[in-house]
Amino acid sequence: MNFTGKTVLLGVTGSIAAYKAANLASMLKKTGADVHVLMTANATKFIHPITFETLTGNKCLIDTFDRNFEFSVEHVSLAKRADCAIVAPASANVIGKIANGIADDMLTTTLMACAVRCPILIAPAMNTAMYRNPIVQENLTKLAEHGYEIITPATGYLACGDTGEGKLPPEELLMAHIERALVTEKDLAGKKVLVTAGPTMEKIDPVRFISNHSTGKMGYAIAKAAMLRGAEVTLVTGKTAIPVPHFVQVVPVVSAKEMFDAVTGRFPAQDIIIKAAAVADYRPAAPADEKVKKKDGELAIRLERTDDILKYLGEHKEHQFLCGFSMETENMLENSKAKLVKKNLDMIVANNVKVAGAGFGTDTNVVTFITKDDVRELELMSKEDVANRLLDEILQRMA
Ligand code: CTP
Repeated sequence: MNFTGKTVLLGVTGSIAAYKAANLASMLKKTGADVHVLMTANATKFIHPITFETLTGNKCLIDTFDRNFEFSVEHVSLAKRADCAIVAPASANVIGKIANGIADDMLTTTLMACAVRCPILIAPAMNTAMYRNPIVQENLTKLAEHGYEIITPATGYLACGDTGEGKLPPEELLMAHIERALVTEKDLAGKKVLVTAGPTMEKIDPVRFISNHSTGKMGYAIAKAAMLRGAEVTLVTGKTAIPVPHFVQVVPVVSAKEMFDAVTGRFPAQDIIIKAAAVADYRPAAPADEKVKKKDGELAIRLERTDDILKYLGEHKEHQFLCGFSMETENMLENSKAKLVKKNLDMIVANNVKVAGAGFGTDTNVVTFITKDDVRELELMSKEDVANRLLDEILQRMA
């Protein structure tokens, strides 16, 4: 995550989970964000402001009438600069105040001034009975209706000894919420995007398979970028070692046949399909039920063709925008153009795995966007940037 140039306000209230906010402040700072922590007086009973000041390099704000600030009306000037505000943990008391227009300290006055200007996230953390209290629930509903994003608390062992809802979600999930909130241009809102990623694995016997070097990085970057831009994303993924992006529906598959079923079944409801997966073209014709034992001499495995998923989609598409990927080692342009026509695609993203910085496992890619009327070669860039350029291009073409 890179939040360079962004200002994030972190509100910390009087909840035992306040100690976790220190890690959140540290994680935010490491993204390059300018992080300002605002604490309630009760929060300072759980964790000392110096912790946050050391982690963020900024003065921790508690008292509205503290005049040692570089700005004259700090709560308004901070609110003007904020790109996102998160209250984590948010106590029942502070939720009640914000929901009812009470602004009696630095945190609540600043949040009052932030509303409408920037996204505000509220992460409630309290005892289950308090969280379930209808008054707290009404306050949360009211905040949600006013556009505040309420982060559902996690369930588990609570500091009071109870087990139930009310835990502050892991900092990593809070970061994902902040990352999504910071992308304010939701130009894919209302669009359903299906992305395939990773390799398929074709069974030889219970312990062996045929696969390829795909790591899933390109497809995962596309799924995440589309999600951040507001799309409803389904990620059909072969086995990979990378964590799946938050807020996308993940459909794990193993073989080309499973991917075919998962994709074709979901195809009619989609607006955009991006097939970044490296699908096997062949599979063992008769996979063994028992482990194949070695013998002297050679062994041949007869392979049969798998179904071409993209070709099927091209033959059955209605309104959908269909984008394929084409990985080549030679004659990249000619071969990829031929695939565009043969599979009836709207676009194909071609890359040559032999080019430095392109292909499997790298964090970068060198790609060429090919459509019926255009060939555009992009420079070396991160897979995240490729993902966003690709989505820009698709949106333009759909318009
Ligand atoms: N693809 C697919 N189903 C297959 C094989 C490939 O949907 N059984 C898709 C890939 O996800 C990719 C595109 O087709 O988006 C092109 O894949 P690629 O392997 O480069 O091309 P192939 O069509 O398999 O042709 P070739 O093996 O001759 O390069």
